[in-house]
Amino acid sequence: MRTVTLTKPSEFAAAWSEQYDRLAWTFADMLGKKVRVTAEIGCGDGQLTIPLAKRASNLQFVLVDRFANTVHGSYSRNYRSLRSNLKKMKLMKRARIVVSDYSRWIATQDDETYDAVISSEFLPEIDSAETKQFIRECYRLLRPRGVAVHSFLSPVPRNIRQKFLIIADSNPVWTNTPPKEWFSPKPKLVIKELRESGFHRIRRKVIRSNLVIKADAARSLLRSWEIKDSFFKAHEESLNTRGFEIPDWVIISAVKSQRVGWNMLGHNFSCRLKRWEKTRQVNVGQKA
Ligand SMILES: C[S@@+](CC[C@H](N)C(=O)[O-])C[C@H]1O[C@@H](n2cnc3c(N)ncnc32)[C@H](O)[C@@H]1O
Repeated sequence: MRTVTLTKPSEFAAAWSEQYDRLAWTFADMLGKKVRVTAEIGCGDGQLTIPLAKRASNLQFVLVDRFANTVHGSYSRNYRSLRSNLKKMKLMKRARIVVSDYSRWIATQDDETYDAVISSEFLPEIDSAETKQFIRECYRLLRPRGVAVHSFLSPVPRNIRQKFLIIADSNPVWTNTPPKEWFSPKPKLVIKELRESGFHRIRRKVIRSNLVIKADAARSLLRSWEIKDSFFKAHEESLNTRGFEIPDWVIISAVKSQRVGWNMLGHNFSCRLKRWEKTRQVNVGQKA
């Protein structure tokens, strides 16, 4: 695929949604036709959800996001845009929105409830300890043969333009919203966590963005990603001439085995115990 170079801010929306269209093709392929009930964590305003729902009419979505402004990002406007995007595309009947912190929501969910748990650009928001726990919980939530698919922009730059963007978006000197631990996790780490949680048939796909952004378009994207103007000022010349490039998209899918491994039996038991204790506390509180 040929590289697209943007210079005007007005060109960005169409190019960005084209990236998600390509991502949605891969998700639809990895999920397959049998998957129905799908939980998407950190859905944002439906950047992936909408093209995926268009592509895969078999999917019903539970869309989980806290839609909150935090030090790591300002996402509170996303709730309204998600609702309006779903309405516009006539997808309201196929989607239920849950406004919650992901770990709180997961803790309320029964084992083996979902055919798929997916995320896009959510793993960059959490750290390695949370990733381990999140992947284990995805395993618990999935039915046997259920599928997990997670995508994120590669933290490993293929060229100087990609490196430039990764630095701008992760170094606290340049960004108002520095990540907790990483620009995104190394694919190897995600694969290791999936394997240790009991997943098998792990697949990794890499899609090149082939999207170069320069000049005013670069400035506008940096602003929308909450990168400080000082970055633009310090690198104005190279942003005008060389620009930066969106890193490659990494998409990793894995399947839950039919039998639960010993390590997950222990994890499931402790989750059940925690849920039972929570219910007990509520009941005792109500009686008092
Ligand atoms: C970078 S955005 C990704 C949005 C969209 N999925 C995409 O592919 O562009 C990360 C999303 O994760 C959500 N998020 C971050 N931490 C969260 C948490 N602890 N619980 C629920 N949602 C969270 C944010 O609100 C935001 O919408």
